[in-house]
Amino acid sequence: MKKVQIINGPNLNLLGRREPGVYGSEPFEGFLADLRRRYPDVQIDYFQSNIEGELINKIHETGFGYDGIILNAGAYTHTSIALQDAIRAVTAPVVEVHISNVHAREPFRHVSLIAAACRGVVCGFGLDSYRLALEGLLAR
Ligand code: DQA
Repeated sequence: MKKVQIINGPNLNLLGRREPGVYGSEPFEGFLADLRRRYPDVQIDYFQSNIEGELINKIHETGFGYDGIILNAGAYTHTSIALQDAIRAVTAPVVEVHISNVHAREPFRHVSLIAAACRGVVCGFGLDSYRLALEGLLAR
């Protein structure tokens, strides 16, 4: 069975309540349950933290044994060289995802410090960005 780790970064624990006009009104837990039902042959593990070092620890923990990591690093996307280094350090392919189209938003969101270390990037499709990232990982 393939194993994929989803990692959500800061403020993404508030999905469903946080700026619903930007991120939608669906909590992540319900979406995740649907995703697991839709891909019964994939072990989909989930981790969320608001703390940068905990995201790095989870990348280290899963990045050598899993078939892929789907990472929404939230605002750390735009600031964290440490996350870029963590992604480069592991062997599992990492897909950067964003719910919103970051390129249609403020200029500081146009820069990703992690994209160059990732296998690919999916953004702008709402929560479906995660499913599209999963499809990309499974297609390999
Ligand atoms: C986000 C986009 C980031 O710019 C923002 O800081 C987030 C969420 C997204 O999923 O659209 O927290 O990663």
